[in-house]
Amino acid sequence: MKFQAEWIQAADMGDICPVFKKCWKQEKKVQQAFLYLTALGVYEAKLNGKRVSQYVLAPGWTAYQKRLQYQKYDITEMLDKDNELRVTLGKGWFRSPMPGWEESKDKERRKSQPGGIIGKIQILYEDGSKENIFTDVDWEYGESPVRFSEIYDGEVYDALFETTEWKQVQKLEWPKEILIPQEGEEIRETERVMAKRVFMTPAGETVVDFGQEVTGYVQFTVEAGEGDQVRILHGEVLDTDGNFYNENYRSAKAEICYMCKNGKQTWHPRLTFFGFRYLKLEEFPGDAKPEQFTAVVVCSDIRRTGHILSSDPKLNQLFSNIFWGQKGNFLDVPTDCPQRDERLGWTGDAQVFIKAASYNYDVEKFFGKWLHDLAADQRENGAVGQVIPDYMPENNPSAAWGDAAVICPWQMYLTYGNKQILEEQFESMKKWVDYITDTTETPYLWTDGEHFGDWLGLDAPVGSYKGSSREEFIASAFYAYSTELVVKAGHVIGEDVSEYEKLYEKIVKEFRKAYPVYQTQTEHVLAIQFGLSESPRETADTLAAMVMEDGCQIRTGFVGTPYILHALSDYGHADVAYSLLLREEFPSWLYSVNKGATTIWEHWDGVMENGEFWSTDMNSFNHYAYGAVADWVYETAAGIRIMEEYPGFERVKVSPHPDRRLGWLEASIDTRHGKVSSRWTQEEDGVKHEIETEVPAHIVIGGQEWDVEPGRYTFWGRHEE
Ligand code: BGC
Repeated sequence: MKFQAEWIQAADMGDICPVFKKCWKQEKKVQQAFLYLTALGVYEAKLNGKRVSQYVLAPGWTAYQKRLQYQKYDITEMLDKDNELRVTLGKGWFRSPMPGWEESKDKERRKSQPGGIIGKIQILYEDGSKENIFTDVDWEYGESPVRFSEIYDGEVYDALFETTEWKQVQKLEWPKEILIPQEGEEIRETERVMAKRVFMTPAGETVVDFGQEVTGYVQFTVEAGEGDQVRILHGEVLDTDGNFYNENYRSAKAEICYMCKNGKQTWHPRLTFFGFRYLKLEEFPGDAKPEQFTAVVVCSDIRRTGHILSSDPKLNQLFSNIFWGQKGNFLDVPTDCPQRDERLGWTGDAQVFIKAASYNYDVEKFFGKWLHDLAADQRENGAVGQVIPDYMPENNPSAAWGDAAVICPWQMYLTYGNKQILEEQFESMKKWVDYITDTTETPYLWTDGEHFGDWLGLDAPVGSYKGSSREEFIASAFYAYSTELVVKAGHVIGEDVSEYEKLYEKIVKEFRKAYPVYQTQTEHVLAIQFGLSESPRETADTLAAMVMEDGCQIRTGFVGTPYILHALSDYGHADVAYSLLLREEFPSWLYSVNKGATTIWEHWDGVMENGEFWSTDMNSFNHYAYGAVADWVYETAAGIRIMEEYPGFERVKVSPHPDRRLGWLEASIDTRHGKVSSRWTQEEDGVKHEIETEVPAHIVIGGQEWDVEPGRYTFWGRHEE
């Protein structure tokens, strides 16, 4: 965008969202016209009464101080003789008080930032002449019908309000160097879920149930009179008595309020979003019926690439929950959850889930943008914030969270085979490892600092969120892993990484000396997965025995869970891995399915066996992290594996692990080089494997190996013992 345009703002009007206006006449014939636009906040732009694009919550969320995306819309077909552009501006991520539970100088700064817009209308006439209309002090503003809009608290809209008073905008001093073209995926309304039922709870509340937890907003239709109001609260679950519940949203009000005009009207919020399955109708004119409510799913418009299905309906529900969890938390930034007063780009959560995410959907562009924000917000000393964009810059970095700086680009490279992400992120990757090297008190180990540990591990001491695995063990293990990945990335892009090679060797040596004994499931898992154990088979045997001695129970938290099934099955314990996957009692993936989950829960027992909630404080029902188990289903159960020498599935390894407890299982990934699918079925005389691949494949079944060209193949394997 040519930056002749000025930033413009409205005079302060408190919570009311301003609308900016520009009118112009079009005399000559237009060949092509574009609108370039962005905002400090989130905007909705309408030209001659119509939205200029399907983009919702533009300009998205980036490390705003350094990078702000602008959008370019083709408006050729929308132009008339008399034109009017209106841009409504909400606080969005730019000015909402995020996070909800913590005060900081940075939050104060963000809250008090001015809102504003900048843009231009570029018109190319048929006679070859050009015209630019820039934002400047000739634009006007007024109050919009959006009386309040904010990320956590919701939206208030007055359908009776008409903007009649227009004033001249003021120029806003704000940097223009931060402007960058749209880099991520567009946020859009991607699907619609009709309400399943409207019912009265024992407490007498009228509640709408969509049967599915989603992220987005509700669109309702109502027949009302002037002065009537609609007031709606959002919730994820009902309480033990079947009443509406949303205490777990903590300070996020998650409320919409709509002042009606006369007659039949349809509305949905436009400048915010919610995570919800249930609505409580605090006020709603008339008798509410399901057909009056539609949940509009809002997320980054990413293409689905993965499918998994099995003979077990409960497992299929788990897979469905994982996909919904991803949709619900991939709204421009990979967030922890979409409902409570967080909705932040927690780095640990993103790193835990990225592999599964990259098989489920094409997330290359989505993560590319986020990683650029990570690098932009990386602190001078190399520390990576707990969340990106870094809305808690005063907080310390944590192991396994900051490592997202290294793990995420590496996974993008593996899944999509494009070196560019490594080239772009290499400095940032090194800086993270250097940060640890430069700040740790013990050379070659990370023994100090404050960490989240094995967050929410089930072996946590009473009253703690952190599992029992030693923090310094986890921190040092990730230090080794990240260093190893920097070395690998350096080799791929032809950088000299000899210093990191030496460093890696020393870390491994010191690690082995410092931690000869592993104490918890997660410690075993990390030692195996990160190549730190000198005898991984024995370590895996011990891990399998621990799991079984514990009554086949998982004890891991955020750190251990994504790897535990791999650590077991890579060393001959696929049966134990399946036992964990198929287990239904608490703790297990299917426990929440049995409790009616439609997305992945933050806690193994978000709803406990007695029906009570785990807590009100930290209890999200849409947290994708444990959905990482999907990557094991693709890679091991169905056996579709990336070969590191052939990144992006240029060639694929297919090495399925059937299990008698399932009649059949199938998975497919639509890779950069073609689709790969693998299905096995338990038949009487053996296991039938049907593999269809559009890329050359190395197939391993029952100890036998074949190298095959693209095609459809059937193999027979023995039933496993
Ligand atoms: C978030 C997590 C996050 C964690 C850090 C929580 O409040 O919801 O998912 O990773 O804090 O420990």
